[in-house]
Amino acid sequence: MTILKADALTYTFPGGVPALSGLNLSIKRGRKLAILGPNGSGKTTLLMHLNGTLRPSSGQVFLDGQPVGYSRRALTAWRRRVGLALQDADDQLFAASVFEDVSFGPLNMGLGDIETKERVIEALRIMNIADLADRPTHMLSGGQKKRVAIAGIVAMRPEVLLLDEPTSGLDHHASAHLLAVLRKISEAGTTLVFTTHDVDLAYSIADEVALFNEGKVVAKGPSEKILADDEALSRAHLNPPMLLQLALKARCLGWLGVGESLPQTLQEILDLMERKSRDALKH
Ligand SMILES: Nc1ncnc2c1ncn2[C@@H]1O[C@H](COP(=O)(O)OP(=O)(O)O)[C@@H](O)[C@H]1O
Ligand SMILES: [Mg+2]
Repeated sequence: MTILKADALTYTFPGGVPALSGLNLSIKRGRKLAILGPNGSGKTTLLMHLNGTLRPSSGQVFLDGQPVGYSRRALTAWRRRVGLALQDADDQLFAASVFEDVSFGPLNMGLGDIETKERVIEALRIMNIADLADRPTHMLSGGQKKRVAIAGIVAMRPEVLLLDEPTSGLDHHASAHLLAVLRKISEAGTTLVFTTHDVDLAYSIADEVALFNEGKVVAKGPSEKILADDEALSRAHLNPPMLLQLALKARCLGWLGVGESLPQTLQEILDLMERKSRDALKH
């Protein structure tokens, strides 16, 4: 079931810079879609079209099969269902304290103080930052700011969560942590769409991948298929993920049973290697 669809979107920035050139993309409900592509390929511009921050020069966005509107009222309803976490959390945080900042979305939706408080507490808990509630936002680390910014969106309980380069600027630990949280949010039923230029990240979390180049989708499909397609990847100036190369090798060597899914994380590959080496010792 498609929840969001971009149909032939074209957008040119003031000054004449083309950013989207007849871009088509459909997003399935409940899935995790990674958008990959080189700098300037239109990833951020597309996300801004998917929650109505930008309006296409031509083409149409559909939400649940209905063409979206751009009246104030339509935009408010749309953004309640589709939340966007910007790449730079500093662009998103503005309140003095973490609690106040995360409250902003629910209050703006017209929720009362009690329900807002419940939602803020829940969002902080989901993001594992309950302990930061009373902190001033300007005294947070980059990774903490990112989690607070995402909590602000999660508190609105959107059906679709759009994230622009969610792990950029995070150290390894912070980004592993964020990924675990995103998996949890996805398991609770939220549709995830995130941009990245990290093919390994896309492989480890996404079900589907769309490759962008020059404002168009050059390939889209299941991540294990698209990320193994050298030709499609090279059109988007990308290399195949190392984990997928290892996983495919394992399949090729007969290490996986028929129909067994490919290992998607380093831990799964390490476990498989260990199992195989134990099997080999037994024989
Ligand atoms: N605010 C802006 N004003 C003018 N041009 C912009 C602006 N933002 C992005 N662009 C241009 O639009 C194109 C697509 O950019 P963007 O969507 O940010 O790409 P990506 O996120 O894939 O790196 C690029 O050529 C970029 O230079
Ligand atoms: Mg971008």
